[in-house]
Amino acid sequence: MARIASFALLSAAAALPGALAWGAMGHEAVAYVASNYVSASTRTFFQALLDDTSADYLASVAAWADSYRYTSAGKFTAPFHYIDANDNPPASCGVDLDRDCGAEGCVVRALQNYTTILIGQKASTANLQIAAKMVIHFAGDIGQPLHCEALEIGGNDIDVQYDGEDTNLHAVWDSNIPESISGGSSLSSAKSWAQELIKEIDSGAYKSQASKWVSGLSVASAAKQTATALGWATDSNAYVCSTVLAGGVSAVEKQDLSGKYTTAAQPVVDLQIAKQGYRLAKWLDAIVAAIQ
Ligand SMILES: *[C@@H]1O[C@H](CO)[C@@H](O)[C@H](O)[C@H]1NC(C)=O
Ligand SMILES: [Zn+2]
Repeated sequence: MARIASFALLSAAAALPGALAWGAMGHEAVAYVASNYVSASTRTFFQALLDDTSADYLASVAAWADSYRYTSAGKFTAPFHYIDANDNPPASCGVDLDRDCGAEGCVVRALQNYTTILIGQKASTANLQIAAKMVIHFAGDIGQPLHCEALEIGGNDIDVQYDGEDTNLHAVWDSNIPESISGGSSLSSAKSWAQELIKEIDSGAYKSQASKWVSGLSVASAAKQTATALGWATDSNAYVCSTVLAGGVSAVEKQDLSGKYTTAAQPVVDLQIAKQGYRLAKWLDAIVAAIQ
């Protein structure tokens, strides 16, 4: 059942212009991980701002930015979902802000911009809500390796198959691989996946790494916000060389990626979702601390 539902969603996604970034489910999983680690005052602050006192207050808005970008009012935010690293995978990976963040903006500068707006507290409530939803969303996007890659429009132009269906490499990383882990595309799939990742952070494979994920994290100035976000993008982009395109484009083009490729990719997707959820929690804590 979950598989049928995810195919229907995928074809709807394929009809949209451009990429969606982690499918909604990936963003929701990041948000659920974050909700587990935010401080009580952060939870209170964002529940009040987002006017939602439920446990899903972050997850419910985590995918909103992917619909906003397709509206006429939100069209200008489309480039905020990625950074076009003009590197040379798999031989060399790397992000250079001056080279890769265009005049129209990118995910690194967008995280900085909406973080500064939130800390400033001068915008209208409606615009502060938008800023919160943007930060929650972009903390997810920046962890998707193909959102930190220019090659073939972040893999959108690399035709592949998944379970016999025609798709592209970007969509496989947005949705097929995450759903192969969580078992579906629903909010409840995201929630149960997040619970598994939280266990790994608290007492499993990620326990010794989590503090490193947030080392140097700072919202104290625009420069520090940018440096932190650039670090996240660089971290994510490195997986383009090591995993996403480890064998070059020819190794994935026209191939069905539902087998061994997915098995190799799943640990990276788990790690990136867990990491970005944990980072988002500490980022939101830092924002609230900077306001008070
Ligand atoms: C920052 O966000 C505001 C509100 O969406 C937007 O008008 C502005 O263009 C953004 N600036 C940058 C540099 O992204
Ligand atoms: Zn996005």
